[in-house]
Amino acid sequence: MKKVNVAVLVSGGGTNLQALIDAQKSGIIKDGEIKVVISNNASAYALVRAKENGIKTETVIKKLCKDKLDFENRIIKILEENNISLIVLAGFMCILTENFTKKYENRIINVHPSLIPSFCGEGYYGLKVHEQALKYGVKVTGATVHYVNEIADGGKIILQKAVEILDGDTPEILQKRVMEQAEWKILPQAVQMICENLLKEEM
Ligand code: GAR
Repeated sequence: MKKVNVAVLVSGGGTNLQALIDAQKSGIIKDGEIKVVISNNASAYALVRAKENGIKTETVIKKLCKDKLDFENRIIKILEENNISLIVLAGFMCILTENFTKKYENRIINVHPSLIPSFCGEGYYGLKVHEQALKYGVKVTGATVHYVNEIADGGKIILQKAVEILDGDTPEILQKRVMEQAEWKILPQAVQMICENLLKEEM
């Protein structure tokens, strides 16, 4: 059966990548296949997860590139070599410029650990998002999967899921709850939804 070629871009632990791998194994993602995992950080544990699951890995280090354009173009080259149709940013801590996003319009998605438009945009990533949610005192947060354009966290929303904030939460506790209850569910769901639609479009 024909599948959509998916690339996952990572920078760190890769628990969202793991959720995608698990969803592929369990059949939640049935219309897409992760062909390559690309990291901007050579020591990202996400790379170990990919290798353990027989998925090809590539590393592109920004500091070793001439400039941001060169960094992005090297990633684009890998995507082209692997015939990628859908790019998933799963804890990828770089903001992509128009050079990249325009090339893959409606083909790049990102998971963000808050309910956009709250606690998002430049400077809001990883644990910082949860620190700010707790500082503000909101009682509900969550996660968002959205399309990626040149505005940080500014693309069209695909899926969202709310998560309660509880008394005594620390950023770490909240991050774990948001991942377990929201991110690891809606990211695979969104990937399957988009892959299914891309296959239909081809027919
Ligand atoms: C996740 O919480 C993801 O939503 C967030 O970083 C974490 C990566 O964890 N991404 C952002 O903040 C992007 N703005 P992971 O490497 O274990 O998937």
